[in-house]
Amino acid sequence: MRRILVTGGAGFIGSNFVHYLVEHTDAYVVVLDKLTYAASPEALEPLPADRVELVEGDVTDTGLVDSLVGSLTGAEDAVVHFAAESHNDNSLRDPSPFIRTNIVGTFEILEAVRRHGVRLHHVSTDEVYGDLELDDPARFTETTPYLPSSPYSASKAGADHLVRAWVRSFEVAATISNCSNNYGPWQHIEKFIPRQITNVLAGGRPKLYGAGENVRDWIHAADHSSAVWTILNRGQIGHTYLIGADGEQKNLEVVRMILSILGRPEDDFDHVTDRAGHDLRYAIDPTKLRTELGWEPQFADFRAGLADTIEWYRANSDWWRPHKDAVESEYAARGQ
Ligand code: NAD
Ligand code: DAU
Repeated sequence: MRRILVTGGAGFIGSNFVHYLVEHTDAYVVVLDKLTYAASPEALEPLPADRVELVEGDVTDTGLVDSLVGSLTGAEDAVVHFAAESHNDNSLRDPSPFIRTNIVGTFEILEAVRRHGVRLHHVSTDEVYGDLELDDPARFTETTPYLPSSPYSASKAGADHLVRAWVRSFEVAATISNCSNNYGPWQHIEKFIPRQITNVLAGGRPKLYGAGENVRDWIHAADHSSAVWTILNRGQIGHTYLIGADGEQKNLEVVRMILSILGRPEDDFDHVTDRAGHDLRYAIDPTKLRTELGWEPQFADFRAGLADTIEWYRANSDWWRPHKDAVESEYAARGQ
């Protein structure tokens, strides 16, 4: 049976990918996750124990990573590396866990796959490319120069550079993907879309940074999962693939859409203090992934995907409600 080690597999996108593996493949999945504040091990609970095993541990733990990677002995076995500190606002408050997990953690994964000759797919972000002007006709491609803005995106850029160097210098069999903003079930309520949905469901108002002109390129997490599986199986070693679903939206429009789906007036939100160094626009050109590997997203209708996501948060308030006050008081302390 093919074995896949998924780091960060209890997080928002990692757990979606583990579900994808159970539903679409016959692989045995080992999840390595530190179970930080961002983890949702509950997301893995419905999965069968003979298909998925959760190991609580840190990607910076050399011995643990070595033993888990060393147990991948089949020719098709692989590591898919999602584990990261992922929230820009947190990286502005305290960059240190971002440097440790995102850079040192990736270094440990690379050294282990090098020692054991194991295939690696490294999951990264479009933020490594910096931002675009609102009216720039160009979108990010695989050759766009790196220009990260925040401690989070700089740490992801650093990790990507390590992967590229290990491929070139040590012939590690790795691919990289840089994906745009994900939405869907199980996303932590610190993030933009779930924060606004749960604000409204809890009787409050959405909080928009600055004027809300910033653009993000939304993709459903399930489409990210299918793209990663496609790249793992059909991607060329040493290549980078950009993952996106043509989902550009202004933050202001997303807030209005959430309010409208929830039956509230579209101006029923607050403008709050902007993020320091706030990237203006992200946009992915996914041509290489679509034409070379034949991948297509399934969630083409953003409003419909958003409506389903809102319903999921309504049905799963037991999961997010216990954390809501603490998350909001941290934001309030920063005027956000
Ligand atoms: P998340 O914060 O929801 O989950 C991260 C997971 O990693 C958590 O389960 C956490 O416990 C685990 N983790 C953190 N530090 C760890 C450590 N030291 N050792 C082991 N596990 C650790 O993040 P996400 O949004 O699911 O993002 C997953 C990956 O996808 C990240 O690499 C992120 O950079 C990338 N990505 C995210 C997006 C997005 O929109 N969320 C877009 C593109 C790329
Ligand atoms: O582009 C991919 C990246 O997308 C991933 O690498 C990151 O892990 C992920 O967190 C996300 O980063 P962003 O910073 O774009 O996502 P966030 O959800 O924090 O914010 C999205 C936009 O919404 C951004 O322009 C900031 C704005 N925002 C955010 C919050 C939390 C608000 O206006 N109000 C808010 O309350």
